[in-house]
Amino acid sequence: MIPQHIAIIMDGNGRWARMRGKERSEGHIAGMDALRETVRNVAQVGVKYLTVYAFSTENWGRPQAEVDALMELICKGVEMESAELMKVGIKVVAIGDRSRFSDKVKASLEKIEQLTHAGENMTLVLALNYSSRSEITTAVRNLAQRVAQGEVRPEDIDEQMISSALYTSFMPDPDLIIRTSGECRLSNFLMWQASYSEFYFTPTLWPDFDKAELERALEVYSARDRRYGLVK
Ligand code: IPE
Ligand code: IPE
Ligand code: MG
Repeated sequence: MIPQHIAIIMDGNGRWARMRGKERSEGHIAGMDALRETVRNVAQVGVKYLTVYAFSTENWGRPQAEVDALMELICKGVEMESAELMKVGIKVVAIGDRSRFSDKVKASLEKIEQLTHAGENMTLVLALNYSSRSEITTAVRNLAQRVAQGEVRPEDIDEQMISSALYTSFMPDPDLIIRTSGECRLSNFLMWQASYSEFYFTPTLWPDFDKAELERALEVYSARDRRYGLVK
C-alpha cells in the first residue's frame, strides 16, 4: 500500500554539518538538496500529499545567524524551485503562522503558492513557523469566537469541526510520519493529525536521506497492520 499522505520531520542538518566541520547553515543547504530529491521521489511513487516540517515555532530561539540563514534559504528555494514544481504539477502550500515572517519571506510564500496552485500530481505542504499546540490554540480561539457570536452551539463541536479548524483542513491525516536523525519524538508536529499515523524513525541524518531510504520506509509501512482499535 502506498500512503496517501507522508509527513517528514527533516532533522539532523546541524549534526551533518558538524561531522564535516562545517557551519550549521551549510547543513541546511544540504538539507534543501535532500528535500528537492525527496519531493521528486515521493511524487513518483504516487503519494498525493507530502508535508515537511521545515521550521518550528521553537526554532526562532536558535542563534540569529542560523535563523537568518534559514529565512534566506526559504526565499532562495522559492526562486530556484518554482518553475520545476510548476512543470511537474506539484502544488505548494505553506501552513503555520505567517505573521512573524518578514515581508520578503511572506511574499516568497505567496509567490510559490500562486505559481503552483494548479498542480494536480501532488501537494507539497511546507510547515513553517508551525507547531501543533499553536495550531490547536488558534483553532480553539476561532471556534470560541464562533460560539460567542452565536454561529455555533457548543454541542455542535465535534472532531470533524476541530479538524476543519486546523491549518491542515484541506488534506487527509498523514498515513506515515518519518523522522530522520535518530530522535524519536514529534517535537510539536501534527499531534492531532497523527492519532493513527504510522511512525518510521531512521538514524540517517536528513541531508543523507535518499531514494533507498524512502523505499525502506515505504516497505516498512506496507508491512504495518493498521487496526484503528478494531479486531481483524
Ligand atoms: C533540522 O535540522 C532543520 C531545522 C530544524 C530547521 P537541525 O538544524 O535540527 O539539525 P540538528 O538536529 O541540530 O542536527
Ligand atoms: C523539529 O526539529 C523541527 C524541524 C525539523 C523543523 P528540532 O531539531 O527543532 O526538534 P528538537 O529540538 O530535536 O525536538
Ligand atoms: Mg534538530
